[in-house]
Amino acid sequence: MPLTATEPSSQLRCISCGATPESAGQDFRCSNCGDLLEFVFPGRTTDPQTLKSLWLGRKTSNHQLDQSGVWRFREILPHIPEEHAITLREGNTPLYELPRCARIAGVDSLRAKHQGMNPTASFKDTGMTFAASSAHQQGFRWVACASTGNTSASMAAYAARGNMRSLVMIPEGKISWGKLSQSLDYGALTCQLRTDFDGCVRILNELVRRKPVYLLNSVNPYRIEGQKTAAVELLEQLGWEVPDHIIVPGGNLGNSSAIGKALLEMLELKLIPRLPRLSIIQAQGANPFYRSVREFNGTKLESMTADTQATAIRIGNPASWKKALRVLRETGGEVEQVTELEIAEAKAEIGADGVGCEPASAVTLAGLKKLRHRGFVKPAESVILILTGHVLKDPDFTIKFHRGDLFTGTSSEAEAARARHLQRAPVVLDADLGAVIASLEAAERAGS
Ligand code: F0G
Repeated sequence: MPLTATEPSSQLRCISCGATPESAGQDFRCSNCGDLLEFVFPGRTTDPQTLKSLWLGRKTSNHQLDQSGVWRFREILPHIPEEHAITLREGNTPLYELPRCARIAGVDSLRAKHQGMNPTASFKDTGMTFAASSAHQQGFRWVACASTGNTSASMAAYAARGNMRSLVMIPEGKISWGKLSQSLDYGALTCQLRTDFDGCVRILNELVRRKPVYLLNSVNPYRIEGQKTAAVELLEQLGWEVPDHIIVPGGNLGNSSAIGKALLEMLELKLIPRLPRLSIIQAQGANPFYRSVREFNGTKLESMTADTQATAIRIGNPASWKKALRVLRETGGEVEQVTELEIAEAKAEIGADGVGCEPASAVTLAGLKKLRHRGFVKPAESVILILTGHVLKDPDFTIKFHRGDLFTGTSSEAEAARARHLQRAPVVLDADLGAVIASLEAAERAGS
């Protein structure tokens, strides 16, 4: 089996008017109608069995592209020559059983694909390796993004690896310290703007028209292509057995679009015989997509001022909502919204399974409980949660929750008492053996 097969020829196409430009402009928008572009692969045919064994065979290869959980699947991606590939061996993320969460949610079995186990600790790396490589191929010196923290951390790392400079725009005071510290350490020029994420996006869009910087937000279709591979890797891990449900958090809606695109392409390539349902969960305080689907039947999206302690998804005007709507419809998925308290509880429950994740990822479990309650998910159906960020991304949130401070002064303060059984505040003791033993015995008496 050869290690490199020929990648398919790809084409850019506008998702609304169908125009097929030769190349994309700096803003990655259609020059006819202003909507988003996507990659299509006209006339692509492959033998599914050959592809599956080619990809599996690469797992034992020492070649840098084969060791990446993104580039290993390069036959379904646009072609980027290897000399431009910037890789940190991203992807290759684990699939975990969540037995306690399964019991809580009322399903027989529940698994999580943990995309927080990527090199910069979020799912963004799978798209970033590919889009940063495209920037390198096109000879850009500067790359830039607006971010709630994870895209910027990822971009800064990949830019540094590819000897490019990076410009980060983040909302001041509204991202976690962990994420901010990453972009500083990886050497980005980090601008904290006195606005929200959506305000950062507006400035970035103006900037790319004025300066030769390469836009690395998920409107960049290379990002979506790289992020597709998470779903392919998931199906491979499942032995190509299609799960009934995949549940993802929804912010700017690039991830759901990418996973959905991968599912549709895998069906077309006969890698899978049917589609799972892809459901998208938003925080109630940042729910423009939920409202678009539920209130306007997807005919329009009303932007909003978003507010949630899950800062990664504090987004009021999601760029990829039309792409996400398409995959929601085509896979027969659902949308849900979850409250701040439901997010915090679900995060602690995922933690108690020994896995953990950042707050935005926990909306998946909180959403599953609601989908199960409504009967959309049945007890015997197989469910995969996509956890998007690592538990260490936002320790402030975690510590506040366990100390019982997360909801102090908010409208959820009284209701938050119901989460007490999940809280494990640290115990401060004298350095005395007797005190530690007394604590141990008290914990044993209190049960789990
Ligand atoms: N989960 C995490 C941990 C995220 O960082 C994000 C988005 C999402 C979920 C939502 O994914 O936007 O593709 O729907 N973070 C972006 C950022 C916006 O700038 O890091 P999405």
